[in-house]
Amino acid sequence: MDHFLYKDGVLHAEDVPVSEIAASVGSPFYVYSTATLERHFRLFDEALDGIDHLVCYAMKAASNQAILKTLANAGAGMDVVSKGEYLRAKAAGVPGDKIVFSGVGKTADEIRVALQGGIRQFNVESEPEMLVLNAQAVMLGMTVPITIRVNPDVDAKTHAKIATGKSENKFGIPIARARDVYAMAAALPGLEVIGIDVHIGSQLTDLAPFELAYQKVAELTETLRADGHDIRRLDLGGGLGIPYAYSNVAPPLPSDYGDLIKRTVGHLGCEIEIEPGRLIAGNAGIMVSGVIYVKSGEGRDFLIVDGAMNDLIRPAMYEAHHDIIPVIEPAVGVDQQPYDIVGPICESGDTFAKQRMMPPLESGDLIAFRSAGAYGAVMASEYNSRLLIPEVLVNGDQFAVIRPRPTFEDMINRDTIPAWL
Ligand code: LLP
Repeated sequence: MDHFLYKDGVLHAEDVPVSEIAASVGSPFYVYSTATLERHFRLFDEALDGIDHLVCYAMKAASNQAILKTLANAGAGMDVVSKGEYLRAKAAGVPGDKIVFSGVGKTADEIRVALQGGIRQFNVESEPEMLVLNAQAVMLGMTVPITIRVNPDVDAKTHAKIATGKSENKFGIPIARARDVYAMAAALPGLEVIGIDVHIGSQLTDLAPFELAYQKVAELTETLRADGHDIRRLDLGGGLGIPYAYSNVAPPLPSDYGDLIKRTVGHLGCEIEIEPGRLIAGNAGIMVSGVIYVKSGEGRDFLIVDGAMNDLIRPAMYEAHHDIIPVIEPAVGVDQQPYDIVGPICESGDTFAKQRMMPPLESGDLIAFRSAGAYGAVMASEYNSRLLIPEVLVNGDQFAVIRPRPTFEDMINRDTIPAWL
């Protein structure tokens, strides 16, 4: 459920007509709903009711500080994967002891910044990283809590580019080697081994892979405890999928996922962390775009819109489906027609949808790409020297620009010309 609905014939973000935002900021832009963000966070939080837990929002999904602050105010911790994300979370007011540092290639510099600024735990992904982390902690006279990310070799049954839990993926250490690596960690003076971390992929629409992975984590917990490690925290990653096409069967609910967690690892008495990103932010945001031209091609009509693959890359990169709806509600019974919906960028990959049924549209009309709140704005680029598009946050009947559209001068003046030119 989200808070983007037609009211009085116009798509609203909560109580604000999307057309009013467009008139104020110009298209294209992203708009997020506070109520949806809060609701999705709460669904996870309540799903883990009864066990000691922290929901650490995977801020890679949507990292604007206004979004982070909204979620942190609701009680969320943060899962970060870079120095930039760490500093952003801190800038949004998230305390270090609610920030978990994940990621497969943390540098010594990134590690030091987080150690000095405060951190809840590092999720260690390899032996060499463990040695660097230990060295940095020792240098600062600290002992840092860690989990080790294990790769359970489980097929997440999702798009190959976002599956992370198979042995051929770069993530974590093979679960078969876990005992050795934990023994190595326990011997390092700068580290305190507190738990296990696992994350098998993103946009999972079936709970079975989670179940398999979490069973393996439960077994490993017992084994490592028998080896003398005080395993007391399990970070179970993110990955629960969202319905991208409203006509399709919906993926499992956070409550089903919570029940699964309790069933598989609840008996261990560990504190549980989860790192959802997409399910919190995905359907809390839309990208609004204006029609530039309607062009008649050979046997098809193209809707050329002002948003492009640089603004929302998911269709080009993962063949992802996003529902696309007009901002003005179509009259009941209006004849729909198929359009290829494309951006203005100079490559055919800049296609959002082929032969998508839409009501008749014309130049100047606005359309909305649904489910664009996660991995939308954060994956944007300036390809074709297009400006990054603004982000807007709605809360009830108010809206605020949370990242303005830059100027062309901002973009152009970032280049510097060498003296020999
Ligand atoms: N934790 C870790 C360690 C992760 O790598 C990820 C996502 C998450 C949590 C959050 O997963 P989520 O709950 O959002 O599924 N750009 C792609 C998605 C990449 C996901 C990468 N890792 C897309 O647009 O589909």
